[in-house]
Amino acid sequence: MTKKIILDCDPGHDDAIAMLLAYGNPDIDLLAVTTVAGNQTLEKVTRNALAIAEMANIRGIPFAAGSARPLVREVEVAPDIHGDSGLDGPELPTPTLSLDGRHGVNLIIDTIMSHPPKTITLVPTGALTNIALAARLEPRIVERVKEVVLMGGGYHVGNWSPVAEFNIKIDPEAAHIVFNEKWPLTMVGLDLTHQALATEDVVAKIAQIDTQCSQFVVELLDFFGKMYKQAQGFDAPPVHDPCAVAYIIDPSVMTTQKVPVDIELTGTLTLGMTVADFRHPAPADCHTQVAVKLDRDKFWQMVIDALKNIG
Ligand code: BDR
Ligand code: CA
Repeated sequence: MTKKIILDCDPGHDDAIAMLLAYGNPDIDLLAVTTVAGNQTLEKVTRNALAIAEMANIRGIPFAAGSARPLVREVEVAPDIHGDSGLDGPELPTPTLSLDGRHGVNLIIDTIMSHPPKTITLVPTGALTNIALAARLEPRIVERVKEVVLMGGGYHVGNWSPVAEFNIKIDPEAAHIVFNEKWPLTMVGLDLTHQALATEDVVAKIAQIDTQCSQFVVELLDFFGKMYKQAQGFDAPPVHDPCAVAYIIDPSVMTTQKVPVDIELTGTLTLGMTVADFRHPAPADCHTQVAVKLDRDKFWQMVIDALKNIG
């Protein structure tokens, strides 16, 4: 049975690879793509999403623009990692695909409400603004989705502050809403995604596929690698967002641990921290889990197979 997902993203180099993994994997049914301000402005990340669709010839899936700013705070973007366009590196094709007329939040709600209960997984790989708004606007989606598998947070490490990760830190109030709704939620955070490094051998394997799409990914990784080296001292870039998609394709790609997680909203040094309480065994009603250990070979093989399928 294919797994139905909605990808809510801010492309973004790793968001782009997440989209290609979802589209190219035969076990995933990508129902909709929505965008949110994050790595760059809403306008830029939405154009990038459509450009990726153009490049990979993704058709028949609605794309909608969502929230242009966080719930409470000002927009914060990440040009030091993703460049001025949000997807610097490869030449981006001019999109011919038109956006769905709905706001991204409405597309999320409509898609969930028009499918049978517990059949759709929400996959946010950007700030959680759209997801929080969707849960507030149509609370029945919380019961109705199968689960939320998000890239964000980190129980041991941050990247936008010593303890907070970018997607959570830029809209902590939205994250607070999403983590506190009672849907099953898997946090694929930095603890896990820092194991998904696009090392030289990985990039070489992707290059060997030798298609337009693989070439696009190689160029993305080339730029992403340089920026991660410069900004954060990584020898190879961590490719965060496709890890969330990989978990849906095959949960055995990573180990997880059930643990209560909440979002820090008031700390002066810790705003946006995903606070995981490991002190006791998780209570029976714990609805959150965190990703711990990645099967790296399995993960990259999934990405490579998906790129081959796209052709
Ligand atoms: C997350 O932040 C963004 O820059 C990436 O696309 C990823 O979703 C990593 O902290
Ligand atoms: Ca992202």
